[in-house]
Amino acid sequence: MRPKTTTFSSTFEQEVFEGLTAHPKYLSSKYFYDEVGDKLFQDIMAMPEYYLTDCEFNILEANKAEIVDLFSGDGESFSLFELGAGDGKKTKILLRHLVERNIPFDYRPIDISQNALDQLEATLHREIPEVVINPLQGTYFDTLRDIGNSNGRRKVILFLGSNIGNLLHPQAVEFLKNMRDAINTDDLIFMGFDQKKNPQTILDAYNDKTGITEAFNKNILARINKEMGGNFDLDQFLHWEVYDPQTGTAKSYLVSKEKQMVWIESLDLEVPFKRWETIHTEISQKYDDEVVAWLAGEAGLQIATSFSDEEENYKDYVFTK
Ligand code: AVI
Repeated sequence: MRPKTTTFSSTFEQEVFEGLTAHPKYLSSKYFYDEVGDKLFQDIMAMPEYYLTDCEFNILEANKAEIVDLFSGDGESFSLFELGAGDGKKTKILLRHLVERNIPFDYRPIDISQNALDQLEATLHREIPEVVINPLQGTYFDTLRDIGNSNGRRKVILFLGSNIGNLLHPQAVEFLKNMRDAINTDDLIFMGFDQKKNPQTILDAYNDKTGITEAFNKNILARINKEMGGNFDLDQFLHWEVYDPQTGTAKSYLVSKEKQMVWIESLDLEVPFKRWETIHTEISQKYDDEVVAWLAGEAGLQIATSFSDEEENYKDYVFTK
């Protein structure tokens, strides 16, 4: 094993080293996303089993007038920030409605990927040219600090897709605290939280028969192969999903089908796997009103209102400070 003093050429390398030498092994789901992972996630969002996207789309469509009223407040111009904007499919519902209603605002999508921002900007110029768009490239952490320092206009921060669910509760509280520090009393945070529901529905959403989620989960191994000279045989691992209806936590694993040894060239690391040994890769937390209220309270935020579908499968909450 390499000595502890070794320096790593990226945080990705360091975290892979730490996760694959730990007991039990783990890797972070934030590393699912390269060009291939982004495409696989778009395919997931289009799957019938992955109800989250359609649910939130329908909630925004059904409540756009009321939501836009909330956003526009007293009618003064405001800035609409969006963390992890992606392709903006859902946000366009609100952008179109804001434009139709002649409400003054600018749209500030934030993403780690400049490529994603460039594509979003191009699509918006084509589809809704009236929208003034000021993209910000960077991590959530850095850009939340920038949002906090940007004074002047009222702020509304969007964080859709239940992306918060990929954080454990203590990390989610930290994240919400950072958001709270970035806003003033008149500002709003609008956030999607997937809700607890029939456990089978959740398992199906994260374990589709077509194997798209499996490929998404295994993309982290494919990235280690590509970017660190690893020799993972992807067929030697199972995608495994569990859901605990009591805690509301869905967890993804990769399970080694055989006793095997994997070599990662740039880490100079041999990783032994016992038969049926696991790598924990992702959590997708499901919520209810009590848990969301608790998280908000811990972070010093209040729930102003919420929007839901009829079955309460998914909810968007509006937080103030
Ligand atoms: C991005 N995130 C909210 C998705 C989720 O539902 O946890 C990622 C995902 N993992 C498997 N399918 C989708």
